[in-house]
Amino acid sequence: MKKLGRKDIPRDFGERFEILEKLYKHGKVTLKEVSALSEVSVETLAAYFNEKEDDLTATRTIFVAGGAGFIGSNFVRYIFNRYKNYHIINYDKLTYAGNPDNIRDIARDSRYTFIQGDISDASVLNETFETYQPDFVINFAAETHVGRSVFLGVKEFVNSNVMGVVHLLEAVRNYKTPRFVHISTDETYGTLEIDDSRLFTEESPFLPNVPYAAAKAGGDLMCRAFYQSFKVPVIVTHASNNYGAYQYPEKAIPFWTLQALNDEPLPIHGKGQHVRDWLYVEDHCRALDLVLHKGTLGQVYNIGGQSERTILDAARLILKILGKPRSLITFIEDRPGNDVKYALDIKKIKNELAWEPTHEFEKTLPRVLDWYQENPRWVKGVFNRAKQFNAYVG
Ligand SMILES: NC(=O)c1ccc[n+]([C@@H]2O[C@H](COP(=O)([O-])OP(=O)(O)OC[C@H]3O[C@@H](n4cnc5c(N)ncnc54)[C@H](O)[C@@H]3O)[C@@H](O)[C@H]2O)c1
Repeated sequence: MKKLGRKDIPRDFGERFEILEKLYKHGKVTLKEVSALSEVSVETLAAYFNEKEDDLTATRTIFVAGGAGFIGSNFVRYIFNRYKNYHIINYDKLTYAGNPDNIRDIARDSRYTFIQGDISDASVLNETFETYQPDFVINFAAETHVGRSVFLGVKEFVNSNVMGVVHLLEAVRNYKTPRFVHISTDETYGTLEIDDSRLFTEESPFLPNVPYAAAKAGGDLMCRAFYQSFKVPVIVTHASNNYGAYQYPEKAIPFWTLQALNDEPLPIHGKGQHVRDWLYVEDHCRALDLVLHKGTLGQVYNIGGQSERTILDAARLILKILGKPRSLITFIEDRPGNDVKYALDIKKIKNELAWEPTHEFEKTLPRVLDWYQENPRWVKGVFNRAKQFNAYVG
């Protein structure tokens, strides 16, 4: 096994590759296009373009908070498959959204350890840091559902999304962990207008409109303050709406998919004109891998899918893929504080780390819907744990 980097570009490609490199650096071709033309993977290209090798043989311990949720479990699997000598500590409270079935395939491997713990519980957290002395910490743990924060109360959101982050920062500080990545959302930036041509950059102010986003912003600001005050080695990322396998079906895409498969209505807030940027979860994991290993400490990176679509278009696409009638769509009262539009500027991560999304929404969604149809045991398990989801969807 090996390090990936400059030497992995085929020698016989010579000049042609130099031309592709120039075109890529001038934004004339995408990473995906260079990959298709050169038959070199996007991971290897990124190592080449950002001039930092990937050490795939290193022995490291990575502490993943919230690794039993949707994005966290995809990330755990991504790291498990890519870094063969990493020991992964998955620290998760197993709230209603945490699901051991999400990581069942690797649960018994000696490179994987699961600890049921709360990031708001400093004593268990410190014990875990003391035992495992992680080289990396990455935090996915959070209360994540906007609708619940609006309709069910904010206490758990503040506990996990603010205080939990503070406890993690303190543990990273006390145990001198070299690198910590904290995952946040585009929702902290608030909303754009529907016909706005602006994009949110890493410098955009925080203007959250719902308690979920406000609590996330609180955690993000703590990261900034711990870096400024104590030089805690933290990086914050802001991602857009993820879609992919293992997503809890209170979130729009899996919820609508399962509703449509059962010929049940697809509820949509307002007129469905809200615009979201859809990011395939595997593109997100690849970005986080780069940020974790090569990002600059103290910095913030936006991670967007460059796939802005209205909620209505997303729901219609699901119906089209599944061959179901549009009449299943039902419009419901809009949710308070429902942001009109999110769109992220991803120039920074593109220029610094050679990352950009490679999955197009229309081409990738059919595969994602297949996954929900091909995994009835997973779906059944989720439904056995919670009988209904539609009260808070959105
Ligand atoms: N899903 C998205 O579209 C999206 C977009 C941008 C950012 N994010 C952020 O990414 C992260 C992961 O999102 P997700 O969609 O995978 O969420 P999720 O709700 O599917 O999973 C959250 C996980 O965190 C765990 N958890 C919650 N509180 C905890 C606590 N106090 N201690 C330990 N574990 C706890 C849960 O048990 C669950 O396994 C969150 O921080 C979220 O804000 C999500």
